[in-house]
This record gives sequence, structure tokens and C-alpha cells, in this order.
Amino acid sequence: MKLTRLRADKILNSKAMWTVEVAVELEDGSQAIASVPEGLSKGATEAVYLSADDSVKIINTKLSKGLKNVDVSDLELFDQKLIEIDGTDNKSNLGANTTLAISIASARAFANSQEIELYEHINRFIPVEIGNRFPELMVLVMEGGKHADNQLQIQEFLAVVDTVEKGREIYLKVLEEVAKLGYSTNVGAEGAVCPTQILAEEAVRIIEKFHDKISLDVAASSVFEATKEFKYLSNGHKFFSIEDPFPEDAWDDWTKYLEENPNQMLVADDIVTTNAELIRRGIEKHIANAVIIKPNQIGTITESIRAVNVARNAGWKIICSHRGGETNDDFIADFAVAVVSDYVKFGGFNRGERIAKYNRLLAIKRRISVEK
Ligand code: PGA
Ligand code: ZN
Repeated sequence: MKLTRLRADKILNSKAMWTVEVAVELEDGSQAIASVPEGLSKGATEAVYLSADDSVKIINTKLSKGLKNVDVSDLELFDQKLIEIDGTDNKSNLGANTTLAISIASARAFANSQEIELYEHINRFIPVEIGNRFPELMVLVMEGGKHADNQLQIQEFLAVVDTVEKGREIYLKVLEEVAKLGYSTNVGAEGAVCPTQILAEEAVRIIEKFHDKISLDVAASSVFEATKEFKYLSNGHKFFSIEDPFPEDAWDDWTKYLEENPNQMLVADDIVTTNAELIRRGIEKHIANAVIIKPNQIGTITESIRAVNVARNAGWKIICSHRGGETNDDFIADFAVAVVSDYVKFGGFNRGERIAKYNRLLAIKRRISVEK
């Protein structure tokens, strides 16, 4: 099935920044659109993010011609074409936002043309069957760090649950408790409460009142003091998982921590940035046992799948994640189900761009349970 038309426009993301939206049409008239997120606390080794203006220009001039009549049926071959046109290790010619938007829109258009769901199309390129395995949710219930205007140094406090319903309940209880204690109920970048003046110790104690499976994203590369806050908290609390407790260049700190805490789920995000080569290096150095997958850190669906495969083969847990600056595109929900992700991170239950992903997950779950 050939691509016949490719067009790009600028749209706004949830942080009032411009991002790229791509529209694709295939030879049978099937169409699809896709837009891509941008990180707020980015890893240094993420693929290059071009300005939306440059991205739109490249698509509407060079790529709309270069990709005309290219077959989109095979996800891997199509993405390979994008990788070749770019010709760099870090997508510095086309931008990872450009290539990912095209990769998603083309896959979605093909799924539409075959009258199958996007997650079904993507799963055909995954060596694992979906069966009845559905990701658990790391629901954001409190925010700090770069995502919030408060005193918390740690970026994310998450409740780990198996259903949206349970996550919603805990989310609302935490919100209510924060208000009851007289703190502000401001909402952070990813849709959870970020009370001003609250200290990390009290933040955790509030969440513990309602749930015992709590995860942290320390995001230590974004806020220097966050590691210290994490160390303080881990004296009195046990966490289900810990993401980025040390900066992205402190590889030895990661290895040492895992050596001393072999049963702790330790999640690598900024240190490996969805890059299969960096994940491989991380596996060799025993830096972690779980990984965050953010397709826009690398730039195509195929390379994101590669990162998943490398991590999973080493026994690492997979967590598919949204970004700080999002659009209403719900691709990440399809991707998470398709790759049989262990967990997802879609933010809190406030802000339409986060809700869009949860609602897509609910729709996929309904669909899968009807099929069974
Ligand atoms: P970002 O943060 O998308 O703003 O980089 C999310 C995360 O670090 O997991
Ligand atoms: Zn992170």
C-alpha cells in the first residue's frame, strides 16, 4: 500500500509550544493524522528535536516528494527509509519529531486501510502476543521538579494500579486530602496536583494513606537536589519502583545502587533515552532492571520496538511513557498494548491530553475483552 500524500502543519502542545502534525493519505484513499510530544526534562542523548517550523518545512518540501509512492505496509521497511533519508545517528537532519510523526501517521493510515486497530498492526512486528496481558498503570498523583512550581525536588509521585478505575479513586482521594490539609491544589504539567510548600515527606505520607504501591520519578538530571530528596525519603519509605534517582552521566552510581539493592525496581529513562545501543550498554553495566520507552526520544516506531526488545531480552521491565509537552494524540496507548508493556505512564487525571491516552487504553481494553 503506497503513500500518495504527505502534509504537515504546526499545532500547539500542552505547554503552548508549537509541534508538528502530519497528515498521510494512501493509494486506496485511507487517511490518518499524527502529532508528537516534546519532553520538558529531556535526556542529553535524546535524538534531535527540530523546531516545528523547520519540521513542517522539511515535510512539505523534501519529504512529501521523497516519500511519495513508498510502501507503508511494512513498518520496519518504511521506518528504515526514514532513517536512511535522515542519514545521521541522532536524526539531526530531519528531526526525531519529524520522523516519528510520519512513522505514526503512516502506520495509522495503513491500519485504517486494513480495517484493523493500530495496536494490532504494530503487534505484528513484536515477538510477543498480546493475549490477555494488559499494562498496569503508574498514575501520577503528585508533581514536583521541573513539572511544577513548588518545593518538591522529585518530579513524579505515582500510584501503581491495575485499572484506570482504581487509579482514578486514589488520584481523587489524594487531591481531596491535599485540599483538606489546606495546601493549594494547583495542577502541574502532567495533570496531577502540585501543592506549594509541601515537603516530600508529607507528600509521600499523604499518598500512603490511600495506597501502598508508590513509585517515584526522581528525574535527577533535571533537578540537582532531587537525588538528596530521594535518599532522605528512602530511609523511611519503601518504593515500588524508582526512576532516574541519579544523573544521566553517573553510570557508576546506578550500578552501585543496584548492587546494594538487587530487589528494587530501578528504572532508566534519561540515562538510556529509548536508544537500543545505550540500553545494551546499561545491561552490560547492570545499571537498571526496567526502562522507560518514549518513542520521541529516538524517532521511529521501529527503533522504539528495538529498544523494547533489547531491554526485555535482558529481563528488564518495560514502561511506555507520555512526555511533559503533549498533544491529544493517543498513539502511546496503542504502542504500549502492542509491545505488551508491563506498565504505562500517562500522567494524572486532569488535562485532556493525558485523559486522551487513558480513554484510548479503556477503549482497547473493552475491545480486547469483547474479542475473548
Ligand atoms: P518529560 O518528563 O517528558 O518532561 O521529559 C517525563 C519523564 O521524565 O518521565
Ligand atoms: Zn523520567
